Amino acid sequence: KKRIGILTAGGDCPGINAAIRGVGKTAIVKYGMEVVGIANGFSGLMNMEATPMEEKALSGIITVGGTILGTSRFKPFKVEEGESENKPQIIKENYDKLGLDALVCIGGNGTQKTANLLAQEGLNIVGIPKTIDNDVYGTDVTFGFDSAVNIATEAIDRLHTTANSHKRVMVIELMGHNAGWIALHSGIAAGGDVILLPELEFDLDNVCNCLMERSNVGKPYSIVAVAEGIDKPKKKSAASYIGKKIQKMTGLETRETILGYIQRGGTPSPQDRILATRYGAHAAELIHHGQYGTMVSLKNDVITSVPLEEVGGKLRLVNPDHYLIDQGKSMGVCFG
Ligand code: F6P
Repeated sequence: KKRIGILTAGGDCPGINAAIRGVGKTAIVKYGMEVVGIANGFSGLMNMEATPMEEKALSGIITVGGTILGTSRFKPFKVEEGESENKPQIIKENYDKLGLDALVCIGGNGTQKTANLLAQEGLNIVGIPKTIDNDVYGTDVTFGFDSAVNIATEAIDRLHTTANSHKRVMVIELMGHNAGWIALHSGIAAGGDVILLPELEFDLDNVCNCLMERSNVGKPYSIVAVAEGIDKPKKKSAASYIGKKIQKMTGLETRETILGYIQRGGTPSPQDRILATRYGAHAAELIHHGQYGTMVSLKNDVITSVPLEEVGGKLRLVNPDHYLIDQGKSMGVCFG
């Protein structure tokens, strides 16, 4: 009878609990495995914060946002000041002390990188990709992304009415770390007029020309969706940098909004619940078949897996060509 640990690491996102449930139910009900929940990501494995999970602990959690296990950005392979240098060794010992046959690591890029290093240290690891940013290499999509896009789309929708009343340019900053997925998808869905992404070079003169043209033909307001990871001065937020420039260069009254953690909170969308459930169930299958050192992945809507060493540390960025959006004007995406 296999005994498996589950941990969730990195920034949380909607759908994690659905993934925990998918792993747990398949492992316990289908295969009779034992499941141990590890609290607060890899730091919980360092500190032996582990609790056996019965099947009933998995009931009623598919609708719940965040992670019932807690999370942290603790990095076992990075020695911070005052920390022990043999963190990976302690983690290996604790994995053995807990009697684990395998460990499921639910997380984004950083987590999958750590998962790969632990696999190389000899632990039996299966990764599950999660993040609102949708930037995990090796899979077509991560759960959390759809929920975040829904929230961001609704937020931008709401900016239209107030922008229209006041005849303003509204700049909204979306999360995504170094990727522009959320800004692009919510920007398109909510009818953003200009969308700025880290993946697409833009020229502020052209952005301002686009906004002036809109104003000159009588369009009363504009919406500018900006990814947090765009090229900008370090100390400024993307929204503040772009908003101030626009106001100064065009004279159009401009306001800024940073949507922030609202994008990560709350209940997962149906699509994320389904994807997370499929990922979770597949992770348990991989463990049953002893296919370790892998990350579950979605390719062309088929659930499969990829070797963790192919994933570790690489980013999956937007390919602007896939969206027919580079109009050759260096203005990001401008729908005029
Ligand atoms: O990776 C998810 C994410 O929300 C990014 O979009 C954002 O840049 C980052 O996490 C924020 O991190 P933290 O939770 O450490 O503030």
